[in-house]
Amino acid sequence: APAALRELLLSRIADVPDYPKPGVMFKDITPLLADPAAFGALTDALAGLCERHGADKVVGLEARGFILAAPVAVRAGLGFVPVRKAGKLPGTTLGQSYELEYGTAEIEMHADALKPGERVLVIDDVLATGGTADASLQLIRRAGAEVAGVAVLMELGFLAGRQRLEPGLKGAPLEAL
Ligand code: PRP
Repeated sequence: APAALRELLLSRIADVPDYPKPGVMFKDITPLLADPAAFGALTDALAGLCERHGADKVVGLEARGFILAAPVAVRAGLGFVPVRKAGKLPGTTLGQSYELEYGTAEIEMHADALKPGERVLVIDDVLATGGTADASLQLIRRAGAEVAGVAVLMELGFLAGRQRLEPGLKGAPLEAL
């Protein structure tokens, strides 16, 4: 992101030590969401990425990804599709499980949410280990759609999510603002 936007966004993200457990530094985006100038600038930047990468649809990852992706979809004039934790969607779903540090998690998307060939931009707040985003790329491809890219507000580089995501991206861009 341009330096001015990056500084604005960073200034509205709070570091919360020892949350949710000791030794973890939580990145709290609620100050950013509460500032319409910062939230608006983030929304504009992400909507710009939709256009640059030729997206036809916006996928948001539960839960904080929903907050960011929904206004982007409206701003970009595109439909919004939620990827949810397993068991939350009422229709026929595609499910994808993925590895966590301890155990596994599963996310789901409505099976008819994307049309074959549609180009999808995935939006989330944080790329950490990359497991969630990688599983979402598999869902999108299984639905017959194409990955236009992944866009996150923050990338926690020390967790190497970019490396985990690389095979699944198949050359599509990973943008971290
Ligand atoms: C967080 C974050 C991303 C994901 C990143 O969500 O919002 O979706 O973890 O982690 P990963 O790259 O290691 O997969 P969380 O599972 O805490 O869900 P929430 O937004 O519903 O709280």
